[in-house]
Amino acid sequence: TDVLRVALAGLGTVGAGVIKLLDANRELIERRAGRPIEVVAVSARDRSRDRGVDLSRFAWEDDPADLAAREDVDCVAELIGGADGSALALARDTLAAGKSFVTANKAMIAHHGLELAEAAEKAKVALKYEAAVAGGIPVIKGLREGAAANEITSVYGILNGTCNYILTEMEAKGSDFADVLAEAQRLGYAEADPTFDIDGIDAAHKLAILASLSFGTALDFDTVATSGIRRVIAEDILEARALGFKVRLVGTAEAAGGKLFQRVHACLVPRDHPLAHVAGSLNAIVAQGNFVGRLFFEGAGAGEGPTASAVVADLIDIARGEYGPAFAMPHARLTQAEAIEAGDR
Ligand code: HSE
Repeated sequence: TDVLRVALAGLGTVGAGVIKLLDANRELIERRAGRPIEVVAVSARDRSRDRGVDLSRFAWEDDPADLAAREDVDCVAELIGGADGSALALARDTLAAGKSFVTANKAMIAHHGLELAEAAEKAKVALKYEAAVAGGIPVIKGLREGAAANEITSVYGILNGTCNYILTEMEAKGSDFADVLAEAQRLGYAEADPTFDIDGIDAAHKLAILASLSFGTALDFDTVATSGIRRVIAEDILEARALGFKVRLVGTAEAAGGKLFQRVHACLVPRDHPLAHVAGSLNAIVAQGNFVGRLFFEGAGAGEGPTASAVVADLIDIARGEYGPAFAMPHARLTQAEAIEAGDR
């Protein structure tokens, strides 16, 4: 059989999850992909840590950069993270070697997605990043394929599980921000640098990707007006509740007057709006299309199983030969608006 041979760079929560998922659903995946998908080589910083999976069957590279050139590798899945550094080097090398590339790395796609998309197009291979936005929610495929016939007029949502967890805990317990942050970090959803979560940067990475995909504009992280939840206090949340609102960190991208506006900030969401019901570490995205109407996607935005689910869905696309351009839904020629001063809350 014609096996799709995969190299995995990074064996943290998501990397281990990908191996577990490929093992557990092997037959189903082979049926749907039309051929087997097998991990053949891996790379991670710590070779000896127990990840609950048998790694002895894979070739091991100490340097992830060496995965791209391996002759027994057809495509690389990058689960290292970080906008630059070894993740970016690996992406460039993989695409330059004419191999498809799958990533969960929102920071890298937000900053370098355009360059990588061009490299993929030139090499006629796939660049796939379903796991980079809202973890397990198939929002990239949903917008790119499911809503492909629509003009999207706005896309917005809850794009950071750590913040949503913190806000819902603050509401439930009346506790203050600092008390809940440590708890959120223990749950393992927070970024290595939790300021990326609480200052809205992680949500802004994801929003910039969604905006580019939805509006056909060049990826532009720098014009996202970004603020976080650091200064929200329990009293704000309780007062909001008394007035019929929930406090949520919302990322919004909308086209108006030939311009694209992108912003991330804490919002008062009316309690009968679907985003008000998104609790704990869940994520949700609302998109408005001119023929489909309002779409609502909800699910787990992080974690082993959900994020692995998105990574493997991309591998299945590649196994099927469904490549497609990485960002192509261009229908509008918008210019990016200058970042709006959002203030901090
Ligand atoms: N730190 C992110 C979150 C993880 O809390 O949503 C998923 O990107």
